[in-house]
Amino acid sequence: MNQWPTWLPLRQDLRELSAYGAPQVPADAVMNTNENPYPLSQELSAAIAARVLDAAKNLNRYPDRDATVLRGKLARFINSLSATKLTEENIWAANGSNEIIQSLFMAFSSGSALGFTPSYSMHPLIAKVTGVSWINGSRREDFTLDYDSALAQIQREKPALTCITTPNNPTGSSLSINEIEKLAKATPGLLVIDEAYAEFSEETSAVTLIEKYPHVVVIRTMSKAFAFAGVRLGYLVADKAVIDAMYLVRLPYHLSALTQAAGEVALDYQEELLANVARLRADREKLAQEIVALGLTVVPSDANFLLFGGFTKPAAQLWKEMLERGVLIRDVGLLGYLRVTIGNEAENKKFIDSLSACLGEK
Ligand SMILES: Cc1ncc(COP(=O)(O)O)c(C=O)c1O
Repeated sequence: MNQWPTWLPLRQDLRELSAYGAPQVPADAVMNTNENPYPLSQELSAAIAARVLDAAKNLNRYPDRDATVLRGKLARFINSLSATKLTEENIWAANGSNEIIQSLFMAFSSGSALGFTPSYSMHPLIAKVTGVSWINGSRREDFTLDYDSALAQIQREKPALTCITTPNNPTGSSLSINEIEKLAKATPGLLVIDEAYAEFSEETSAVTLIEKYPHVVVIRTMSKAFAFAGVRLGYLVADKAVIDAMYLVRLPYHLSALTQAAGEVALDYQEELLANVARLRADREKLAQEIVALGLTVVPSDANFLLFGGFTKPAAQLWKEMLERGVLIRDVGLLGYLRVTIGNEAENKKFIDSLSACLGEK
């Protein structure tokens, strides 16, 4: 833990925290933060560069504070995927979905927030930083979410925010739309569905529930399937009343003109950017089989990563040995498990070859 100087008036409750820090170290195969391994095409990068050049001519001015064009495009994108009738009034855009989570916690923290662990580690961390009391709900031993138990936990705690990540990070399991709808009927406050990995799953998106259940809010991102992590663009799909509350907590001009320009171009090229999703899904199944063939276990995944276990050495040791062989994966702090992001063909092969070699070593 950091030893803070006594003169620093840092909040007491922050002194004991560790900052988010997935290692960013050079490796031949970077498979630790669930990015899309396929870079943008030459044509798309050139189109972004041209639009950014255009936007650069006006950088003496603040950007469109409300990112109206981008939000309209995001609404049409979601409508095309989920047959919804959303407009820009149902969309909020921010610097990654982490900022969306932070804004939700800032706006709606009148009570506690409940999540079902293991799940996305930033939910409790952002809760802490925004002063929201966090309740760690539980999952089954196999990491799936037990609907009846979740319902009982919600009814007991009556949180202002109930957070469900589906497909769940770091486990990869999803909840069906029927189960989410049943939870929506019984959840007080907001039911926050984090769909960062939705494009990798066959499940119907919870955006289809918003019209009937205005307290269902859905977090999406362009960082994963959309292959756009470097731009930092996440968005919220919700009832207009929820979006209106976002204006209260956002910082003025929070989304830069360059981000808006890049995001708008990316949405024009959505087919290209999402073209690799089917390939990543197929490679996920292939990689799962290969891990099992090494005598390990894999948690069934609906996302672009796999949580695997069944190895005998400590996870931290295996993680380190893999890195020494040039493969960066993720130790998510779950006893006996490590997480690997689906990479390109060469990365997946390097991962399996290295894993096989590490398992053979004492
Ligand atoms: C479940 C989940 N939600 C949100 C995020 C944040 O993504 P970003 O801020 O890049 O949009 C992540 C990133 O790993 C995630 O796994």
